[in-house]
Amino acid sequence: MTAARDEERGNHPSRVRIVEVGPRDGLQNEDALVPADAKVAFVEALADAGLPVVEVTSFVSPRAIPQLADADDVFPRVRRRPDVRYPVLVPNMRGMERAEHAGADAVAVFTAASEAFNKRNIGMSIEESLAAFEPVLERAGALGWWRRGYVSTAFGCPYSGAVDTARVVDICEALIDLGCDEISVGDTIGVAEPDGVRHACDALLERLPGERLALHLHDTRGRALDNVRAGLERGISTYDSSAGGTGGCPFAPGAPGNLATESLCAMLDRLGIDHGVDAAKVAAAAAVVRNHIVDGGATAEAGDRGPGDRSTG
Ligand code: COA
Ligand code: ZN
Repeated sequence: MTAARDEERGNHPSRVRIVEVGPRDGLQNEDALVPADAKVAFVEALADAGLPVVEVTSFVSPRAIPQLADADDVFPRVRRRPDVRYPVLVPNMRGMERAEHAGADAVAVFTAASEAFNKRNIGMSIEESLAAFEPVLERAGALGWWRRGYVSTAFGCPYSGAVDTARVVDICEALIDLGCDEISVGDTIGVAEPDGVRHACDALLERLPGERLALHLHDTRGRALDNVRAGLERGISTYDSSAGGTGGCPFAPGAPGNLATESLCAMLDRLGIDHGVDAAKVAAAAAVVRNHIVDGGATAEAGDRGPGDRSTG
């Protein structure tokens, strides 16, 4: 490694773990209904590309997210690799029962740092959502499952604007206290700036171990990679991304929403940070799903959800 590259790396971790959220966060934000077979193949191809965590689907209300209404069919059909984690999103005990029945062994619960967003997304206040997750996380813990918590709108809310970082830290800490192994702190609408990310990381790291934190950064305003750089400077080593940038932007069709896994890999390569993912295989997996999205026959009726509801993390 050259001195210049050493300098550029600063406090960066030497290895980054990428959590692939395309099959869940990506597909829930696309209007097209992707066939179950294609979803299964997508997940398998992503795991084969070296991604250590692939979030498969959500066991949520099919009315809220029609794109993932086939979760009970998709999950059990995935050929799972022993070295990969396959979490599923669950909002309540009903979802937990479905996840258990499908054979899952890793779960993600999700709340937000903004009351307005949480109300619109899951019909609960932050307090109520934490109470709903308690039995879910307890059950998952008893089964020995890996447990992840999402805190979305941590850098800004589409309905109520600015978000208080101290509140974000409190919610993350509450989720850790409920048993989460890892917390993913999300810039759901892509409004974070690197300074804000550094500030949030500093506040989080005062109270929580960095190994248990992940950043989920959307590219809505083209800042995701700059924000990843800010997280890397603070030593954060887990980042969420979506193969092919699947998920689009709910505000501007055709504009980027989710950070593309391939772009994240390319930047880490430039920085000399190891990630273990074959980005060409990720791109190939995404291209197949993209075909279904582009020609997608069926279209999800996503009800009257507002734009900010269509995206999480
Ligand atoms: N799986 C399947 N169906 C579920 C469910 C689950 N986990 N939880 C609730 N439902 C069903 C109920 O049976 C009910 O169905 P019905 O209308 O046919 O009787 C309906 O969903 C509403 O349930 P209710 O308990 O009244 O809750 P709600 O309407 O306040 O919805 C959630 C709450 C959490 C279930 C719903 O908002 C949801 O699934 N949100 C997910 C949003 C999401 O995934 N966003 C993207 C990720 S952040
Ligand atoms: Zn997201």
